Amino acid sequence: MAQEISSLRKFVAPEIIFGSGARKMVSNYAKTFGAQKVLLVSDPGVVNAGWVIEIEQLLQEEGLDVVRFTQVSPNPRSEEVMLGSEVYLEHGCDVIVAVGGGSPMDCAKGIGIVSTHGTQIRDFEGIDQTTNPIPPLIFIPTTAGTSADVSQFAIISDQQDRVKFSIVSKSVVPDVSLIDPDTTSTMSPFLTACTGVDALVHAIEAFVSTGSGPLTDMNALDAIRLINNHLALLVEQPEDKYLREQIMLGSMKAGLAFSNAILGAVHAMSHSLGGFLDLPHGLCNAMLVEHVIDYNYRSAEDRFAVIAQTMGIDTRGLTNKQIQTRLRNHVQALKRDVGLKDTLGKFGVHTTDIPYLSTNAIKDPCILTNPRRSNKRDVELVYEEAL
Ligand SMILES: [Fe+2]
Repeated sequence: MAQEISSLRKFVAPEIIFGSGARKMVSNYAKTFGAQKVLLVSDPGVVNAGWVIEIEQLLQEEGLDVVRFTQVSPNPRSEEVMLGSEVYLEHGCDVIVAVGGGSPMDCAKGIGIVSTHGTQIRDFEGIDQTTNPIPPLIFIPTTAGTSADVSQFAIISDQQDRVKFSIVSKSVVPDVSLIDPDTTSTMSPFLTACTGVDALVHAIEAFVSTGSGPLTDMNALDAIRLINNHLALLVEQPEDKYLREQIMLGSMKAGLAFSNAILGAVHAMSHSLGGFLDLPHGLCNAMLVEHVIDYNYRSAEDRFAVIAQTMGIDTRGLTNKQIQTRLRNHVQALKRDVGLKDTLGKFGVHTTDIPYLSTNAIKDPCILTNPRRSNKRDVELVYEEAL
């Protein structure tokens, strides 16, 4: 049988420091970028967890001025990006440090763009819309899942239109990502579950994406293995440092995979849902994932079989239909084990909302790399399944 030759693929990643204590490198890197005044972007939850004061002190001890910007919502909003860029410019900042989950990091990306382009953040919706360099970005993630610290995505919520929009650009890959598993010790079990399932979905979607390739496949499969083997244990034993490190590593690899292979229908539909209801992103993904696997299965049977094997399913002697059922059951069991059982209906989504949700989902850039081409009616049917 003739072997297939890979298409051309590029792979973008930040400089990464991974491991316990990585966050303490923040002032070295800020100084490397010539920082004198740092905009420190975070949110109230991360302030309460104590990470902001620690990072602020580390920077100040090295003689750097710090301006805090912590008015960031769980789904960061356009007006917060605009306000943050005003603060950046008003104080004459020269480097942006973000500490937190996906929300502060995505907001920091938006602040970086607006501070050097001087227009509305919504103008940068879509792929590669930035024209100017943006300030140096140093990111310290405190959740293991969103991977905004390695990705070329920023997802911003527009409250007026009740939509989330995606900015996809190499310019929002941070310059340095300080990935420190110690910072995830302040996550609740619910947040651990949501962000962990988000990371698993990143890896699955990246592996079946039409943009996948050898450089992303290895990261995606390793992420699936790490998250499958360790997430439920971590939710049970949040104090276990080894488990925290494995999930942080899995999340990072999933991020490297999806940032370069892009995503699929779960994320397109979940962005639409998150903009409509302001629900946690990982929870939206969790409510959709097995339904999208079912929808996509026939379009990527060989790839889904590899995913099933990577999750420990013995596929020998099984038909594609049987593997599909086992994979769906396995994903549902994993969700149940980490405590995510609810469906869309529980959060007030009605059949009448589905056309609006679907219209926005098929406009999302993530739908373009879904293995099965999808129109509005296809997406409507998947939402209906997930109700
Ligand atoms: Fe995600």
